[in-house]
Amino acid sequence: MSPMRDLLSFPDGFLWGTATSSHQVEGDNCYNQWWKFEQLPGAIWRGDRSGLACDWWRNAEQDFDRMQALHLNAHRLSLEWSRIEPEPGRIDHRALDRYRAMLGGLRDRGIKPMVALHHFTNPRWFERAGGWEWAEAAPRFQAYVRAAVKALGDLCDFWLTMNEPIVYVMQGWVQGVWPPQKRNLAAARRVWRHLLLGHAAAYQIIHALQPHAQVGYTHAFHAFRGRSSRRPIHRYVAGVRDYFIDRLWLLCTVDGRLRPPLGLGEFHPTLAQSFDFVGINYYTSKIVQFSPNPRLLFGADYHPPVAEYSDRGRNGPYSLFYPYGLYGHCMELSALGKPLYITENGLPDANDDLRPRWLLAHLYQIHRAIRAGCDVRGYFYWTLVDNFEWHEGWGLRFGLFALDPQTQARAARPSAALYGAIAAANALTPAMVDAYDPASAGVYFGDHPDTYQWLRVV
Ligand code: FCB
Repeated sequence: MSPMRDLLSFPDGFLWGTATSSHQVEGDNCYNQWWKFEQLPGAIWRGDRSGLACDWWRNAEQDFDRMQALHLNAHRLSLEWSRIEPEPGRIDHRALDRYRAMLGGLRDRGIKPMVALHHFTNPRWFERAGGWEWAEAAPRFQAYVRAAVKALGDLCDFWLTMNEPIVYVMQGWVQGVWPPQKRNLAAARRVWRHLLLGHAAAYQIIHALQPHAQVGYTHAFHAFRGRSSRRPIHRYVAGVRDYFIDRLWLLCTVDGRLRPPLGLGEFHPTLAQSFDFVGINYYTSKIVQFSPNPRLLFGADYHPPVAEYSDRGRNGPYSLFYPYGLYGHCMELSALGKPLYITENGLPDANDDLRPRWLLAHLYQIHRAIRAGCDVRGYFYWTLVDNFEWHEGWGLRFGLFALDPQTQARAARPSAALYGAIAAANALTPAMVDAYDPASAGVYFGDHPDTYQWLRVV
């Protein structure tokens, strides 16, 4: 409201982007395990299938134009291993040519690509051999990474070895809702170990080929908290989840030790310090209460009645609006002394009711962390255009643009213009806050201390 208020500017060169993954946008990815899974009755909500997805294999460039029109200077995408190596040891150079065209198309538009080498999908031949349970998984993954980086390294030097490995383990081997739909803790442990070794092998080979590359991974963080109560058991089970889900992977990649229950602390030199930055995926905070169910690590989600939720409602994994958790994770991870990128943040919100305020509130918390000394270098909103949301099918609408998957028509939601204006200004402006979050304007611009309603949801 007041013209005296300053912009909340981000550092020069801050990356403003969106994030996608191959299977969710490319279409016709019939050589991976997800495609096969989608054919099973009941596997995907309402029987949805990825189908043409967002048709990126044929025409990603129309969406690259949309990114450019929004003044974005970065985009996070993934390579589809099953296209690049459709049969063991056979590299498909036409697939690599298509990725060359895509990476070149981004760069021509002034958009820096960040490329993930694994985002939940595997070739079907790899899956048949045992997938990530297979003893050969890490060297096979490394061979594919070598081929991909050799072919694309002149167009990209900003890599993610893996996306959310713990989500992959939990969904596939603990909850059993994603392929291979197992509920087997011994197999989950094996997969977890192989993913860590695969990540380390990928990190090593990328640096051998491209010594100057920046290589990391993304990790899903959940700001676990115990349900507020006099019973410390809730805090305790929140701590257990925090250790297993938010910390264990990270700790192993810091000091190279396979901690219990993954190992007995044995040291893997290639794993130690095997990241140049941390990719933070943050959607929501999990408030945890005790549950007798060991499969849930004795903790169940608690949904406070007074909180705000996205479209996914009270039962969803992305539901609670809690931007403060992102600030907490940035502050804590900053102690690692490495750059941080917010590699995913977003919400399903078909009507765009909450999204503008969501964007502002999360970006405000990132700005606040930067002011407090965190080296946050970029933000990737999930996602540009509604895409195929795994076992939720087309039911969750995360896009800045709405998509009709039948006609492939896109329509900008109001948040698209807001995000574009933020990227163009490299700042949050008083006008934006007054338009979308006026009740909290005093918090954004320092008139009131940051004792925010977000802290009082429980
Ligand atoms: C993350 C995934 C991404 C997308 C978003 C909504 O866990 O990395 O592929 O599904 O959630």
